Amino acid sequence: MTQAQRIVLASRPKGAPVPDDFRLENFDMPEPGEGELLVRTIWQSLDPYMRGRMDDVKSYAAPVPIGGTMEAGGVGEVMVSNSDRFDAGDIVVGRTGWASHAALDAHQCLKVDPDLAPISTALGVLGMPGHTAWVGLNDILRGQPDETIVVSAATGAVGSLVGQLAKRKGMRVIGVAGGAGKCAFAVENLGYDACLDHHHPDLAGELAALTPHGVDCYYENVGGKTLEAVTGRMNDHGRIAICGMIAWYSGKGLQDAMSLPKMWRAILVKKLRVQGFIVFEHMDRLAPFLAEVGPLVKSGEIHYRESVAEGLENAPVAFLRLLEGGNFGKQLVRVAE
Ligand SMILES: NC(=O)c1ccc[n+]([C@@H]2O[C@H](COP(=O)([O-])OP(=O)(O)OC[C@H]3O[C@@H](n4cnc5c(N)ncnc54)[C@H](OP(=O)(O)O)[C@@H]3O)[C@@H](O)[C@H]2O)c1
Repeated sequence: MTQAQRIVLASRPKGAPVPDDFRLENFDMPEPGEGELLVRTIWQSLDPYMRGRMDDVKSYAAPVPIGGTMEAGGVGEVMVSNSDRFDAGDIVVGRTGWASHAALDAHQCLKVDPDLAPISTALGVLGMPGHTAWVGLNDILRGQPDETIVVSAATGAVGSLVGQLAKRKGMRVIGVAGGAGKCAFAVENLGYDACLDHHHPDLAGELAALTPHGVDCYYENVGGKTLEAVTGRMNDHGRIAICGMIAWYSGKGLQDAMSLPKMWRAILVKKLRVQGFIVFEHMDRLAPFLAEVGPLVKSGEIHYRESVAEGLENAPVAFLRLLEGGNFGKQLVRVAE
């Protein structure tokens, strides 16, 4: 095989991205240099942060250039190894991008243990989203037994693990998710004490009824109306971990957003601790996260769910659906068998 396939950024979105912002291309099979691996992608991850990479604005990471391969984590098989760290046939996780093949620096790849769990989990519950959930709950929120925590995007890749780990700590866990099906899954399969649909016209009233002792911790994934409703229920000295704000990534809903003076006042009078974090600054916490959560996934004590798009060519549409809540659990693309 001399040709590989990739999806590039064709144009920068104006508001919500559309399929024409992406282009499927053939390209010459990459040749791994010294210390590199040629990896054949099997699973590709789709994550909300990719929306930010499409805009030419200053952020914690550089934007994807026009014509550049869209960024992604992927799990694949080593076809050629020019490194003594890996052998051909190993399964690794690394930054494959939206591509069928990639030449990757071996030092930027991790070996995946197929005996621990299905290899796709290295992109979800045992990968970057799981690591994010664990860091946000333990290091940023420092959740304590008997406290009440609210988790938004409660059934997603990050939220579903936050909720289960918080429950295991003895916290009272309230989820917020889109629709009755996701809410039922949160309670029945993930063990949430209750879950609210963020489409409810009186989200604040519903949340108040479910949190008679207020909210101590908010694991913030979405922004939007959920943020305003939860902020109104925060207890004195409560903590908010800002993990994401997907409701606003494409600039939608900004006119209805909670006003800054209202938010500032809540932080002041309730003496809240509000902290944003980016998981890549917490790589020293990867090993303890895997040591705790790996065995729980293997034993089936931690549940996870995946949404799978078939084929690289379907990655753009699956990504657009993810941004609108069309995924149910970790969104993946099966690039190859
Ligand atoms: N800080 C970090 O280092 C870091 C790392 C990873 C992820 N994140 C962030 O964590 C959040 C969750 O990521 P994920 O990978 O676990 O994604 P995910 O939850 O699997 O998928 C995104 C979910 O966001 C929800 N959503 C979309 N639009 C919404 C809206 N307007 N209002 C409320 N909810 C909306 C949808 O769920 P519903 O159908 O339930 O609404 C959708 O399924 C994202 O904000 C992401 O950017 C941050």
